[in-house]
Amino acid sequence: MAIERLVEPTLAGENTEEEKIEVSLRPTSFAEYVGQEHLKRNLKLAIDAVKKRNDGSTLDHVLLYGPPGLGKTTMAGVIAHELSASLRVTSGPAIERAGDLASILTNLKDGDVLFIDEIHRLRRAVEEVLYSAMEDYKLDIVIGKGPAARSVRLDLPHFTVIGATTRTGSLAGPLRDRFGIIHRLEYYKEPEIEQIIRRTAGILSTEIQPEACELLATRSRLTPRIANRIFKRVRDYADVNGDGIVDVKMTEEALRLMEIDYLGLDPADRNMLRLMYENYGDRPVGLTTIAALTGDEAATIEDFYEPYLMQLGLLMRTPKGRVITEKGKEHLQSVKNVL
Ligand SMILES: Nc1ncnc2c1ncn2[C@@H]1O[C@H](COP(=O)(O)OP(=O)(O)O)[C@@H](O)[C@H]1O
Ligand SMILES: [Mg+2]
Repeated sequence: MAIERLVEPTLAGENTEEEKIEVSLRPTSFAEYVGQEHLKRNLKLAIDAVKKRNDGSTLDHVLLYGPPGLGKTTMAGVIAHELSASLRVTSGPAIERAGDLASILTNLKDGDVLFIDEIHRLRRAVEEVLYSAMEDYKLDIVIGKGPAARSVRLDLPHFTVIGATTRTGSLAGPLRDRFGIIHRLEYYKEPEIEQIIRRTAGILSTEIQPEACELLATRSRLTPRIANRIFKRVRDYADVNGDGIVDVKMTEEALRLMEIDYLGLDPADRNMLRLMYENYGDRPVGLTTIAALTGDEAATIEDFYEPYLMQLGLLMRTPKGRVITEKGKEHLQSVKNVL
């Protein structure tokens, strides 16, 4: 049985209470969007150019990739806002048939932004319709059946696709090639995470002390979604056990309760590392084997657990499988004594 995770970023499209709060916390402009300076500079330039030309041309298609919770969906909203364009949101798994995509595309207007989350999960047949739509704003459809069937080309409005994916590796080459702007979102720096937590505290009208904010930032996996989520839990804790002010004492106690260690790892992360070490020691382990050990899906491990563990150097990917590093082993040893 997989351990329920506090730090697990939710997948797109979940309509939970939490998702609603998340939407309310989303920055809408470049000015509010913290960090990712390189990405912002490039996008700003491209957007300013489109606006200045003012000849009906649209922004190149944009592909954003990187681990969950770093602000891909948020950035799609920011881009649409900065373009003063309207945003249509869909996702790879939500578009079941080519006809579904055709109806989305024919309902767009010139200049619209179409956000396709988890674009690596588009079906092949749907993907093919998207190619020509992105390339030359044409839609090829087949009318009728059997020998009477004929193919027609429809003109589409000039729109911009923003694709988001946690893995570029699983994106088909021809699809990838149709994006003029391709960007990887990076993990945030701690001061940026602090800034995001302060912003969230402000929106939720909660007082947070600077030292507490600093401490939280070190536990947030350098990921805004997780920073916000942990902050909300600490805020609850401070409401119940204190006077509602998030100070260091409340933060430490709440983190201990959540069993989040000083690197931001939760019990599920440590459990995975421990199972790998106990069963395989220094030998590489395949992804599916790890999944079987922890009871998670392989994709969950690949998308949610691994990127941060690798970023920290606790886990390594080799051609033969995943290996826990010396640093990983040391970490398991040291938290054993702390928690
Ligand atoms: N650069 C940022 N500045 C401030 N908040 C951010 C930023 N990026 C993400 N967030 C916060 O983190 C949450 C998750 O971001 P999201 O765009 O949904 O991530 P992704 O789509 O990459 O999984 C958002 O609700 C938003 O509140
Ligand atoms: Mg998203």
